[in-house]
Amino acid sequence: MKLLAGNSNRALAEDMARFLKLPLVKAVVRRFADMEVFVEIQENVRGEDIFVIQSTSFPANDNLMELLIVIDALRRASARRITAVLPYFGYARQDRKVGPRTPISAKLVANLITHAGADRVLTVDLHAGQIQGFFDIPTDNLYAMPVIVKDITDYLGQGNLMVVSPDVGGVVRARALAKRLGADLAIVDKRRERAGESEVMNIIGDVEGRSCILIDDIVDSGGTMCNAADALLREGAKDVCAYATHGVLSGGAVARIKGSKLKSLVITDSIAATEEIAKCANIRRISIAPLIGEAMRRINNEESVSSLFD
Ligand code: R5P
Repeated sequence: MKLLAGNSNRALAEDMARFLKLPLVKAVVRRFADMEVFVEIQENVRGEDIFVIQSTSFPANDNLMELLIVIDALRRASARRITAVLPYFGYARQDRKVGPRTPISAKLVANLITHAGADRVLTVDLHAGQIQGFFDIPTDNLYAMPVIVKDITDYLGQGNLMVVSPDVGGVVRARALAKRLGADLAIVDKRRERAGESEVMNIIGDVEGRSCILIDDIVDSGGTMCNAADALLREGAKDVCAYATHGVLSGGAVARIKGSKLKSLVITDSIAATEEIAKCANIRRISIAPLIGEAMRRINNEESVSSLFD
């Protein structure tokens, strides 16, 4: 088995390599003057079981193109099996037609990765589980949940906790976390009664005096988490912490989180952290390198991956 890192999240790839006690394949991934991507694999990979590690995070198009070109280079170099390891799968939120004449970009990107030559995909907390079916190759969707549960137990203990889904779409995920923690569940129900009117946040559940834990797959602008925190505190919650697998944190998100009433936002390292994120006092990062590393080891050994979550 060999590991090859793209440029999107080198630190995570190095942590996985350390976990597996393997060096990263020597490769050059660089740009021509016109920004076209050039890849050269600098060691023999013929007959190898190769894992290409690349999050298709910001800049999503560049990182995606880099992934496709690396896969093409490996295929032409006769790698036996190529697994695209996508700690964060970008474009996942475009998973259905939102109106007439709109694309389903998640499916398009899945096709691109498959046609480039990937034999398998390994990813974490897909925005919607059914995106797995967009790939016509074996796809393992890991859950960051065990890592999140451990962090909550270490940092927040288990008393007086209330798990909260920040929107109705995230209830299944929140319920799973609540079950694991033996905690109660509440839901933030966002409603805009009429176009142009501001959103009304109704809380389903009694959060008075409770330590609330918001859980989501993605935190992007931070709006969902910060608004939910405000609504929970208005309803008498004692404090609010937030957990999200993928810290997309675009635009002014970090400043927004910093100025919010969130006690903390915990994200994983599925996306490389900017300096601003690393320096933000109420954002903390936990690592999923051992989780993905163990899944890669099991794939290489033809062992069960699902039993990681039993
Ligand atoms: C939406 O369905 C996702 O699960 C997240 O809630 C969303 O992407 C968060 O976006 P933002 O941080 O911009 O509110």
